[in-house]
This record gives sequence, C-alpha cells and structure tokens, in this order.
Amino acid sequence: MDLHILDHRLKVTSICKDGLVNFTHPLIKLIFLRNRTRCKFFSLTETPENYTVVLDEEGFSELPSSEFLQVEGSTWLPLNVASNGQASSSSQAVGVTKIAKSVIAPLAEQHVSVFMLSTYQTDFILVREKDLAVVVHTLEEEFNIYREVGGESVPVHSQDVRNGLQKNGKEAIHPTVHPVLSPQNRFCVMSLDPDTLPAIATTLIDVLFYSNGPKEGSPPNQDLDCIKFFSFSLIDGYVSIVMDTEAQRQFPADLLFTSSSGELWRMVRIGGQPLGFDECGIVAQISQPLADSDISAYYISTFSFDHALVPEEDIISVIDMLHQQRNEPAC
Ligand code: ARG
Repeated sequence: MDLHILDHRLKVTSICKDGLVNFTHPLIKLIFLRNRTRCKFFSLTETPENYTVVLDEEGFSELPSSEFLQVEGSTWLPLNVASNGQASSSSQAVGVTKIAKSVIAPLAEQHVSVFMLSTYQTDFILVREKDLAVVVHTLEEEFNIYREVGGESVPVHSQDVRNGLQKNGKEAIHPTVHPVLSPQNRFCVMSLDPDTLPAIATTLIDVLFYSNGPKEGSPPNQDLDCIKFFSFSLIDGYVSIVMDTEAQRQFPADLLFTSSSGELWRMVRIGGQPLGFDECGIVAQISQPLADSDISAYYISTFSFDHALVPEEDIISVIDMLHQQRNEPAC
C-alpha cells in the first residue's frame, strides 16, 4: 500500500469563543473565497471550548495575531494512506479503523504523537515535521512512502530523511487512561460540491458563527446531554462537513450528500483535561479495539480533546469496550 506525505505544512491553532469576532473576516475568506487565498488545507471545528483551526502556512498567514489565538508551536505534516485497491484485509470498515493496525499503532509504539483529522473523503494523520524520520523508518516496512512535492510524488526512504533517527527518548509507554463521554447527538458526515458553497453560505455562517445566540422558534437551552460539535474542512478542493442532525436540518437537503447507506454516528469524546499535543497512544487506545471488532470510525482531534464517531448501532458496545479496557465497571 502507498502512504503519501502531503505537500502542506500545517499549524494547529485555536480561537477562543469570545475572540471569534476578530477572525470572521479571514475565516470567511478561507471558506468561501478560494480564489483569493493560496490556502489549500483548511479545517475549522467548533466544540464547547473553542474553535480549532488547522491550516497550512498560507492560510495561517491570513489570521491576525491576537490574544484570542493560541498556536501549537510545531509544524505538522499530513499523511494519507492511498487505498489503491490492495487492502490486505477483507474488512468493510471505514475511517480510522482501516489504518489502526498499520499506521496508528506502530507510530504510538515509537512514541510519535499524532493529530487526527477524518473527513468525508479520507483520514489525515498529522505528525510533527521533526518526527518525520522516525515516521518514515517506522512505516516503510508496510508502505511505499511518497512525498508530494509541487504536484509530484517522490519516493522516500528513511536514509533520505535528513534529521537522523533519534528515538523520542521516553520510557515504555504507560498509557494514561482518559475519561470518555458520549453525548446524545447523532452526527452525519457529509460533503458537497465546492462550487455550491455560495448556495449554503448563509446557513453555514449562521451555524458556524451565530450558533450560540438565541434563535427564534427554538427552545432556549440546548439539551444538556448534547454537545456542540461542528466541523468544516476544505482540503485540496474537497469539502467535508461533520454535524449533528439538528444542524443538518438547517441546510437545504439537495446540496449535501453522504454515503449511500446514510448512516448516523454517535460520538465518543476523549479527555477530561485538555489532552495537549505531546502524549502519544491516545488514538491508538481507541482505534485498536474498534479495529479488533471491525467497527468503522471517524476520528477528529481538536485543540483540547479527541473525538471518535462510531455507527450509532455500535455505540453501546463501544462504550462497554472502552470501559472494560479501563477496568471500570461498564455503566
Ligand atoms: N497526540 C495524541 C495521540 O498521539 C492525539 C491528539 C490528542 N491531543 C489533542 N489535542 N487532541 O494519540
């Protein structure tokens, strides 16, 4: 199988909710005015804590520096497994489940911290640029690795990766057990033709920037068991939107599409305290049992927490499984 190191140098940032007003202009440009920006990788996720923005250096240069913007110090590179029809297993599962054993677990064993971004189209595994040598060395047994450079795919071998192989000198992993939470909302993972973005612009702006204000005709308080989670990404010309059924109702039904099975997803949110960026093995801990049971999952890391989406019919068994793994009584 082939693994591509994409030609984007990414920053992981967060905008605090109170400061969003300082960013609406650049964000609207990045979302709707593709021909006015050189940004090719843009992702915006609203959670109860903040807005996570992951974007390339071109996009990052559009954001004003501000006390409301937090920036993770490293440059991250997106990896992507090309499913070129040679899938070694007969699994029907989609998303992060497919790459749990071949990519996620080996990287965790080598103490490489990842940041995940699943979209409608594919799953991006972000790794720090400084870890690239370890990443290539770790994955080259399983994959043909290519680096995208100016539209060309150049084969990469670990001897080509300059900054030497220094293990991330840490002792054996003793994985921290993070609490998990399962909000009641049901999510869908959708896409649309980027040329039709103007047609949903007002709804998208409403949902993204005005979701916390009072709205006519809807109950004032959101159900306490539901979580605010909305993710929009525009990556290499492909749009992906993850939203709950409540948000979905606001969009015209004919423009957005999802996979033919039209399934709905439930969320497992991982983390009680913000997870930070240095810990490794969090994604592995969650995706490993899902892979063992062949349960599809999308996985979206945000600035503070991680989020896995699993088919709604599997949520109970997934929660049970995760509790068992943690030696807690399942409840
Ligand atoms: N670094 C974690 C891992 O390797 C995943 C990201 C968690 N951190 C976050 N801010 N979401 O498993």
